[in-house]
Amino acid sequence: MASSLYLLALTWLLHFQAALATPHQARTVNDILSGLQSINNQLDTLSASLRNFNGGLEGTLAALQIQGQTMDLVHIIDDATGATNGTSNLNQQDSITITNRVVQLQDDIFSTLDLLEEKKSAFDTAVLGLASASILVRADLEALQNSTRLLGNAIVQRLVASLRSLGPLITGNIDFHFSHALQHYA
Ligand SMILES: *[C@@H]1O[C@H](CO)[C@@H](O)[C@H](O)[C@H]1NC(C)=O
Ligand SMILES: *[C@@H]1O[C@H](CO)[C@@H](O)[C@H](O)[C@H]1NC(C)=O
Repeated sequence: MASSLYLLALTWLLHFQAALATPHQARTVNDILSGLQSINNQLDTLSASLRNFNGGLEGTLAALQIQGQTMDLVHIIDDATGATNGTSNLNQQDSITITNRVVQLQDDIFSTLDLLEEKKSAFDTAVLGLASASILVRADLEALQNSTRLLGNAIVQRLVASLRSLGPLITGNIDFHFSHALQHYA
């Protein structure tokens, strides 16, 4: 009797733990929006560092910091992609909300990319290890472009059909700006 009660308790406990450990919590439009906001914030952080960056020997620490912030941005973008993947398809209203938010974000992305282009000669003079920092910036830009592409595709796939056909115009435009910035670092 005592042992069957014990078994019952154990069974309940295991059920309870399984409920707690449910791995795939459904994500919502708010998770996508919060991911896009995090990208926005990190773009602002990165832009502020870029504006202050003047290269040279004394710019080495700053170049390292910018590199770290860029890598953080890649991870923040990947997180937003994960959140987008984890939502079901968006309804019309949410599709409009997300599309507008991406269009807004586009300006932030472009101004950060413009700053990166402007600071090319400063990165040329900053030395990280044996190489100029420009080589690292190029690799970072590629990683950013790749992650941004994945996020763009993930978002477009969640939109209602009427907006899904518009999506590639926006993501294509963003991708073009990345390629343009990359040409500066070729
Ligand atoms: C999101 O889904 C796409 C397409 O299925 C996949 O290629 C990508 O790796 C996923 N990314 C994340 C972060 O979940
Ligand atoms: C970006 O993607 C391209 C092609 O998909 C790949 O060759 C390249 O290694 C990736 N670069 C980075 C830094 O992830």
